Amino acid sequence: MHQDVKEILVSTEQIQEKIISLGQQITNDYQEKDLLCVCILKGAAPFMADLIRQIDLPMEIDFMACSSYGTSTKSSGEVRILKDLESSVQNRDILLVEDIIDTGLTLSYLVDLFKGREARSVKTVTLLDKPSRRQADLVPDYFGFQVPDKFVIGFGLDYDEKYRNLPYIGVLKEEVYNTKIT
Ligand code: PRP
Ligand code: MN
Ligand code: MG
Repeated sequence: MHQDVKEILVSTEQIQEKIISLGQQITNDYQEKDLLCVCILKGAAPFMADLIRQIDLPMEIDFMACSSYGTSTKSSGEVRILKDLESSVQNRDILLVEDIIDTGLTLSYLVDLFKGREARSVKTVTLLDKPSRRQADLVPDYFGFQVPDKFVIGFGLDYDEKYRNLPYIGVLKEEVYNTKIT
């Protein structure tokens, strides 16, 4: 275990088992559809890479990067697009892939955006869900694990851009973000 990790919340084996079952559900639900999986960078990259290899259907992938406007105390729910899709979403079945839903503001903005672009359907899949922090009225169509309101890192989730490469979901030690000068 990494020295900055206090405890492991979800192990590598649990994640991989869950991704297999999510891939099976998605495979069943998207028969005869025009599936486009959209990875929300950067956090969703590891989950996306594993998930699409468990989906046994013709499909396409694309990537999007965005960031929230304003400060955390004043979140408008408005999202700035840093990198847009290359594909058209019109009349396609869009599956937005996230690592975690926290306030839900990012994803609910993107769901509305793609509906406005005339996607045939827009659904969401997230590895982790933190429902206790929700501000937007958003329930994921597929999720891996619900997590408590703790600082979680790994499998794509970062603190200060680090720890995304950990192969499990861990809780960050308090002393890492409460840096004390002694
Ligand atoms: C994190 C996470 C989700 C979003 C969830 O991304 O990966 O995309 O925040 O938060 P919300 O539900 O409150 O909107 P972040 O903006 O940290 O970017 P990153 O994926 O590049 O780390
Ligand atoms: Mn993200
Ligand atoms: Mg982040």
